[in-house]
Amino acid sequence: MKALILSGGKGTRLRPLTFTGAKQLVPVANKPILWYCIESIVDAGITDIGIIISPETGDDVRAKTGNGDRFGAKIEYILQTEPAGLAHAVKTAQPFLGDDAFVMFLGDNLIESPLQPFLQVFKTKQLDALILLRQVANPTAFGVATVDENGKVLQLEEKPKQPKSNLALVGVYFFQNTIHQAIAQITPSARGELEITDALQKLIETKQKIEASELQGWWLDTGKKDEILEANQIVLDTRLTNQNLGEVDSNSNISGRVNIGKGSRLVNCKIRGPVIIGENCYLEQAYVGPYTSISDRVTIVDTDIEHSVILSGTNITGIHQRIVDSVIGKNVKISRSPKRHQALRFLVGDESQLEII
Ligand code: DAU
Repeated sequence: MKALILSGGKGTRLRPLTFTGAKQLVPVANKPILWYCIESIVDAGITDIGIIISPETGDDVRAKTGNGDRFGAKIEYILQTEPAGLAHAVKTAQPFLGDDAFVMFLGDNLIESPLQPFLQVFKTKQLDALILLRQVANPTAFGVATVDENGKVLQLEEKPKQPKSNLALVGVYFFQNTIHQAIAQITPSARGELEITDALQKLIETKQKIEASELQGWWLDTGKKDEILEANQIVLDTRLTNQNLGEVDSNSNISGRVNIGKGSRLVNCKIRGPVIIGENCYLEQAYVGPYTSISDRVTIVDTDIEHSVILSGTNITGIHQRIVDSVIGKNVKISRSPKRHQALRFLVGDESQLEII
């Protein structure tokens, strides 16, 4: 059994953050989303992993993630020259996949449940495909399944305008090698992509064994800013441990679960967890409220912030209006002059500079 993670694509919905980086590397609780996928695959006992990368962000993904040693896995990178669809990615990965069965994991999806029980169902029932479904409020944004009263999958459609159900396809799929023949029979969709949903529909039409399991626990498709913030909140809520490897002065006040990385220094700060602060950060006279993740080498001085994600190397100084619900990129500089008392909301790309006046 192998695994294929899709970490290519353009990430258009997360611009401007994705102008300079891969969306799968955006950190949630200070860890790239992609790494959660890898860990969950390795936890299920699969260590032979292929990662689809794009020409634009592939080098970054490869440099950050490495050859798999840190995860106890063997990672091979597979270049997809254009984002021509999920089924196109599988086609591109065919030399890596060979005749093996595989789990395909979309590199921007986070799920709470372990993969092992689903893998068990897939293997025991000798299925051609096992898909995971989840009820959603906005099915038009997803692949949508119609399922009969016995749980049999009748039809699959990619982002239908008039969805026949509210059951969305989660970005984790288990496939036998029969998927390759199905992909060979499909043509690009209206949006110009080879859709895995169409290949699955082919499996249904050719009477292959395809089943669906409904996913329990949380599922996050981190395509947009608010989804990153939601993922950050849930992961901090459920997985953050208390730890202080930094230096906190006696005037600082820390409560709740807070994780501070080594080399970080806090002077006269108020931190209300759950909060994670990376390595080599400097915080002075700052209030950091619940559900905030601060990456490495960030400076926050004389500033209030909560429910936000700050990427590495950023410097925020003198912001007295509380910064909330914000995702702030790498090496951003934000500073200001006089006091105001309204909340500020940001989605700021890497290398930006903001001055609030
Ligand atoms: O998140 C679940 C949804 O994912 C499913 O419900 C849909 O059926 C499925 O098509 C997919 O829809 P998205 O519109 O969310 O897919 P997106 O374009 O965001 O791509 C998903 C991941 O795959 C993302 O990490 C980028 C990567 N990708 C995408 C394409 C189109 C590639 O590596 N290569 C590609 O060609």
